[in-house]
Amino acid sequence: MADTFRVALTRDFRSDDGTIGWGDIGMAQLEAEPGIEWEFLPVDETPLSPGALAGFDGVMVLGNAVSAESLVGADRLKVVARFGVGYDTIDLDACTAAGVPVTITPDGVRGPMALAAVTLLLSVAHNVRQKDRIVRERRDWSERYRYNGLGLPGKTLGIIGFGNIGREVQRLLAPIGMEVVAYDPYLDPAVAGQAGARLVGIEELMAESDAVVVTAALTPETHHIVNAERLALMKEHAIIVNVARGPLIDQNALAEALLKGRIGGAGLDVLEEEPARDDDPILDADTVLLSPHATGWTDLLAYGNGSGCVRSLLEVARGTRPSHVVVNPAAFDHERWTGVPDAPKTVS
Ligand SMILES: NC(=O)c1ccc[n+]([C@@H]2O[C@H](COP(=O)([O-])OP(=O)(O)OC[C@H]3O[C@@H](n4cnc5c(N)ncnc54)[C@H](O)[C@@H]3O)[C@@H](O)[C@H]2O)c1
Repeated sequence: MADTFRVALTRDFRSDDGTIGWGDIGMAQLEAEPGIEWEFLPVDETPLSPGALAGFDGVMVLGNAVSAESLVGADRLKVVARFGVGYDTIDLDACTAAGVPVTITPDGVRGPMALAAVTLLLSVAHNVRQKDRIVRERRDWSERYRYNGLGLPGKTLGIIGFGNIGREVQRLLAPIGMEVVAYDPYLDPAVAGQAGARLVGIEELMAESDAVVVTAALTPETHHIVNAERLALMKEHAIIVNVARGPLIDQNALAEALLKGRIGGAGLDVLEEEPARDDDPILDADTVLLSPHATGWTDLLAYGNGSGCVRSLLEVARGTRPSHVVVNPAAFDHERWTGVPDAPKTVS
């Protein structure tokens, strides 16, 4: 009889009542497969400590980091399935050296995260936060005249990082009729053109846009890609939204620009330091709408990300390579993958 394929879920998936905190993440498909068992890791820790993954064939990872040390003793580990698309918390080089492919779930995040960006964009443009406060705090409704919003139709939208989420933001906003400019040095201009966006330089984007949406990957090159100098190029009424990673924006510079009224507003799903420090100046800005890295979290995101992870785990458990989407294909150069076939196009 074949060995059981053992799957770990990082402990941060577990809610206080012992169930998966995200609701239905598509585990039924994994549970229906003979010969697979899964369990939560015993400790919520980041990074996972040496030995934490020993005895497991696959791991589904939420927020806990996987470092080189985390792989100590993980001799059976054949796949790290990341619930989401950001893999800055996974030591890719260490996984590659160990022959462990890391998979991500772009299909799960694309729609929900693009809608999250649109939600923040429209809420900030229409000053929803300030208008809610007028009613809730029983203020004089004449105050509403101070909060006329920014109508987006006919205006220019700038998207920094025109990938999976960025292009979906553009597609969702197409019906309202904005001109779209994008900055993404790694994108084929033909792809941008097909999507209906004009590729421009970052300075041009900051200066031309009425609304800027940040959906770039966080890399050493994109750290503080929106800095004080580039914020200074923005129009006075312009707004900026970040749903990617906090360090893409120099947050102190943004707080200063907002507090001094030099730009119109901001919507931030992500912060440079999470959770926010009590004395973080961004918390004092009235024109910023904030979220604890969760604007995009919906039932659809949970199911989409979970199903993507389950698909990877099933493919490996069935004796094939994971197909969807491996961010370190060099892991397959490891001898353990010699002769292992690709997964069929679809897994039922
Ligand atoms: N807030 C959340 O809950 C949440 C959820 C999912 C994803 N994210 C973040 O969103 C990011 C984007 O996700 P995605 O699925 O669109 O990824 P993606 O890889 O498809 O897109 C990222 C884009 O950034 C571009 N890029 C790389 N370097 C750049 C540079 N120097 N300047 C401009 N663009 C550059 C890439 O070419 C790519 O097109 C992820 O990296 C992740 O960190 C956040």
